[in-house]
Amino acid sequence: MYLLVLLTVFGVAFAVPLTAPSTEVFSAPTEEERAAVYVLPRDIIPTFYDVRLILNPDNEEYFTGAVDIRILPLIITKQITLHAMAMNISAADIEVYAESAPTVNLFQSHTLATNDTHLFRITLNRNMTVLQPHTIRIKHYVGHYGEDVRGIFISTYTTGGTNHKLITSYVEPTFARSVFPCYDEPALKAIFRTTIYSPPAYSAVRSNIPVRAQSLKPDIPGYAKHEFDDTLVMSTYLLAYLVSNLDYVDNAMDTPYKDLYVPSTVQGIF
Ligand SMILES: *[C@@H]1O[C@H](CO)[C@@H](O)[C@H](O)[C@H]1NC(C)=O
Ligand SMILES: *[C@@H]1O[C@H](CO)[C@@H](O)[C@H](O)[C@H]1NC(C)=O
Ligand SMILES: *[C@@H]1O[C@H](CO)[C@@H](O)[C@H](O)[C@H]1NC(C)=O
Repeated sequence: MYLLVLLTVFGVAFAVPLTAPSTEVFSAPTEEERAAVYVLPRDIIPTFYDVRLILNPDNEEYFTGAVDIRILPLIITKQITLHAMAMNISAADIEVYAESAPTVNLFQSHTLATNDTHLFRITLNRNMTVLQPHTIRIKHYVGHYGEDVRGIFISTYTTGGTNHKLITSYVEPTFARSVFPCYDEPALKAIFRTTIYSPPAYSAVRSNIPVRAQSLKPDIPGYAKHEFDDTLVMSTYLLAYLVSNLDYVDNAMDTPYKDLYVPSTVQGIF
């Protein structure tokens, strides 16, 4: 009788702690499980990006772009995983080529994560060979400006009662992926070539590196073309863009950097 009572008491005592916390404890993912969801697989490395951006501060709805990414597979695989955030990319605009067969499109399908992983996955119709260079070609995508000073965004300022717009960027730490599809992790460094097309009324257009001397890209009617030199090997979070009417002065030192400022009196910059 005593034993039976004791068992009942134990039964009650154990029933609660053993069942109640179990759902709580096992629903929280470990660090490794979170990493497996968020961190890019290190089976492909990017080496070079050729980015074209069409940026019009007078169209706040969206911008468009195109990018070629040169990659090196480190394993035999037909899966490509990179980042893209707040973008529309159609299957018809995605192509993948081996450098050894530049007319055979290997693209089969893609998925674009709408959740916060921002993963953009491409499946090919055959395996890539280890260390054989390939190019991911996104011929056209639609991007969206950041609303809270993240990624690439539109700002306004007022001079002499007139409102002006400018496009600028702050992609640190993980918002380069909202400017163009990329391997948006600091260790995955590459060379970046940038071309910005913007309305001719915006005369001060900048990126990380001086303007290219020899033009490579075609013109687009109605837009001014700004071609920049290739960067050094660098991380995506250091990229920067500016489309503006700011004035500038050369600084005193013999460097390519210039000080930019708002013409006449600044009444507000946001
Ligand atoms: C872009 O994709 C979003 C969802 O990710 C969708 O709501 C929107 O309609 C798409 N826009 C275009 C122009 O396809
Ligand atoms: C995002 O979606 C993918 C599949 O669509 C899923 O595997 C992943 O767990 C999701 N991540 C989060 C944080 O919800
Ligand atoms: C692609 O590679 C994987 C992994 O090595 C292998 O299992 C698969 O059979 C290969 N597929 C083809 C079509 O060669």
